[in-house]
Amino acid sequence: MPRLLEVNNLTAGIKKDGEIFQILKDVSFFIDEGEIVGLAGESGCGKSMTALSIPNLLPKPVKILGGEIIFNNKQLTSLGEKELCGIRGKEISVIFQDVRQSLNPLMRVGGQITEMLELSGSTDREANKTQALEMLVSLGFEEPEKIFDAFPHQLSGGMCQRVMTAIAAIRRPRLLLADEPSSALDMESQQRILSLLLEMNRKYKTAALIISHDLSIIRQFCSRFLVMYAGRIITGGSNG
Ligand SMILES: Nc1ncnc2c1ncn2[C@@H]1O[C@H](COP(=O)(O)OP(=O)(O)O)[C@@H](O)[C@H]1O
Ligand SMILES: [Mg+2]
Repeated sequence: MPRLLEVNNLTAGIKKDGEIFQILKDVSFFIDEGEIVGLAGESGCGKSMTALSIPNLLPKPVKILGGEIIFNNKQLTSLGEKELCGIRGKEISVIFQDVRQSLNPLMRVGGQITEMLELSGSTDREANKTQALEMLVSLGFEEPEKIFDAFPHQLSGGMCQRVMTAIAAIRRPRLLLADEPSSALDMESQQRILSLLLEMNRKYKTAALIISHDLSIIRQFCSRFLVMYAGRIITGGSNG
């Protein structure tokens, strides 16, 4: 399969008073089209920062300091915010670790999902709603209409993460970055999210980076894995 993403010698960190505090150190890896790669490592080693650096969504004051990120033959580190906006959600989507922060608390869930379709130019409201409801069903919601009309605070953390996943997946991106779809959640939400990733991978060749400290998940879902320690990728391997 052709290469989809290539990260070369990526360094990220914080610059303060002329000093540099490195968070990611010389990180290099790749993901081929249609491949599911796992990223493991202890808490604080830089897994989330690695994923967030790809669509340039690093939290301030963390910045990319060096290296390159090549996605679909485009050098992402040299793109402006406007071009990156065109890639985020459409070609690269993130299922964030911190769900509560990434959903809009003032907007009903359904609107947040259909907004993604409107952004890609689908103006047929009924068709958008139907597609959103189908996505909610495939994430295991038995009463999708209720969820569609709910506000995030009316849902559990696991349900919010499934909604996040619907938002991230509805435009069928080529690459999904799933940051700990397994932590702090009920088993049902975890299984639903990972099954959806597998289904999209089979149907549409969606590639994914699955971040998890749970090695059994990485073994079950990923063809290859990478292990980080203190900001570096220290080892990798393939499953089976
Ligand atoms: N918002 C932030 N601002 C500044 N530094 C941060 C922030 N979030 C994380 N860090 C730093 O980046 C390091 C890596 O964090 P992270 O990628 O979130 O780890 P992981 O996802 O592997 O648990 C942390 O040890 C911390 O020092
Ligand atoms: Mg993390």
